Amino acid sequence: MDTPEQRIQIAVQKTGRLTDHSIDLLQRCGLKLTQSKDQLFLYGENMPIDLLLVRDDDIPGLVSDDVCDLGIVGLNVVEEKRQELLCGGREPRFKQVFELDFGHCRLSLAAPDGTEYSDRTSLNNTKIATSYVNILREYLTKNDIDAEPVYFSGAVEIAPKLGRADYICDLVSTGSTLAANGLTEVETLLESEAVVIQTEAILGDEKQALVDRMLQRLDGVLQVRESKYIMLHAPRDALPQIRDLLPGSEAPTVLPLDGADDKVAVHAVCRENVFWETLENLKAAGASSLLVIPVEKMLA
Ligand code: PRP
Ligand code: ZN
Repeated sequence: MDTPEQRIQIAVQKTGRLTDHSIDLLQRCGLKLTQSKDQLFLYGENMPIDLLLVRDDDIPGLVSDDVCDLGIVGLNVVEEKRQELLCGGREPRFKQVFELDFGHCRLSLAAPDGTEYSDRTSLNNTKIATSYVNILREYLTKNDIDAEPVYFSGAVEIAPKLGRADYICDLVSTGSTLAANGLTEVETLLESEAVVIQTEAILGDEKQALVDRMLQRLDGVLQVRESKYIMLHAPRDALPQIRDLLPGSEAPTVLPLDGADDKVAVHAVCRENVFWETLENLKAAGASSLLVIPVEKMLA
């Protein structure tokens, strides 16, 4: 049995938008997990890696304080923590290593429907309810706006109805929460998505190697998401043009075709989606027998 020091801990949102995607991503990296009885963590059966299931707001702090080695969390939460630490004169001890292309949302300012809003100057001398006081303060300072952030830990969208604020600053994903509360978006402060953060603490060699290995697998999983393996036949003299048409591929493999000196087979990994249009352009350039196959795993 490994001692806890030899295992790495990955912080993941306990319940929410990112939970399923985060766990699925780590499973696609080859991690097999057992659910612990208290459901506070998932034990890695085949690798010394455990998941800590926590509130998303706590994840950057856990990684910064070296309780967890990695974390999967929204950029909005990461930025809020970064600003909070910097405002308190402390350096964040985590760094962002991957963008994950899920959990897309934005941090926006919204006003009750019917509010007369022309531009950012309309925000002067108002109160803005938010859980993101640090990001909001920074935005107000940067744009030279004199408004007062009012902290709400949740249910921010009801603040204007309660007469506690003129505007709100909150996350918008589908926009249905704003619509349901009679609010209209007026400014976007931050575009967010799920990201992986890594501790900047110095780890022992063994642990560091494990973190590196996990990051390399994550990189592989993220790369193959859009990647396709493409195979085709092409006239030898059309090769330069065909090479240019292959989306996001480095050096294609060119193979001779038995009994056809003027033709070759081309195999390439395309690191972008291959659309019908691309295939049609390849065909127009002289390619034939086109085949596109999804890539399951990749290791650079
Ligand atoms: C956010 C935000 C809104 C809602 C907006 O909360 O506070 O309530 O999502 O989403 P919509 O535009 O799709 O309606 P979230 O569920 O992310 O929880 P948290 O901010 O408390 O972690
Ligand atoms: Zn939260």
